[in-house]
Amino acid sequence: MTAIIRNFVVFEGGDGSGTSTQLALLQRRFRGDSTGLIFHPTCEPTGGPVGALIRSALKKEITLHPLTLARLFAADRAEHLYGPGGVIERCGRGGLVVSDRYALSSLVYQGIECGDELPQTLNAPFPAPELLLFFDIDPQTACGRLKNRPVLELYEHLEFQQKVREKYLSLIGEYQKSGCRVEIINASKTREEVAAGVWRALLKMPILKAESGGSGQTAEQIR
Ligand code: TYD
Repeated sequence: MTAIIRNFVVFEGGDGSGTSTQLALLQRRFRGDSTGLIFHPTCEPTGGPVGALIRSALKKEITLHPLTLARLFAADRAEHLYGPGGVIERCGRGGLVVSDRYALSSLVYQGIECGDELPQTLNAPFPAPELLLFFDIDPQTACGRLKNRPVLELYEHLEFQQKVREKYLSLIGEYQKSGCRVEIINASKTREEVAAGVWRALLKMPILKAESGGSGQTAEQIR
């Protein structure tokens, strides 16, 4: 990764680590925001055509070779970033974009499936986010949370999730070298405690400092 996308935040973590829940909570928090900050929650796989194909594979409706999936995740990411209404466009307009997963997911999940080389090559050209929050949780606890889901997806089993956590922890240091700020969130805490940790990390971003300063309101009051 070479450049940094300002105002772009990424949530990363194993399945069941609570990234989607926290993004929904953040969206609720910003709904009451009176500072004029424009918040765009988003996710990967996206809701676009490539993302839909990936979702079918994750649900095991179709079978795709891991090497194919690695390329699809990267293609979906390119649309997410550069397509109309994409991350680059929204951040460029001064909005705050928070994505549930981004390139590190590919380095971890597809790295486990296909070896490091292909996901590294496919994802090296993508710019890094300004902030990455890694939701760290014991895989056993996370898999316990997944048990309530009606269908378990492709990677949602304990043995794989143990490798996922190890790989995240081994790659995070490298990712930081790209200039992206990385914070580890203890995702085994309560929803409210995790949300508070996420908020504290976001408040250090210049976009939130600027917004709160400009309106005469402290960022804490945005809540
Ligand atoms: P997830 O955010 O967990 O979706 P949901 O909330 O619907 O369960 O992501 C779906 C799965 O896709 C998850 O197991 C991680 C995997 N994934 C990859 O393997 N590579 C990637 O590049 C991305 C973005 C996700």
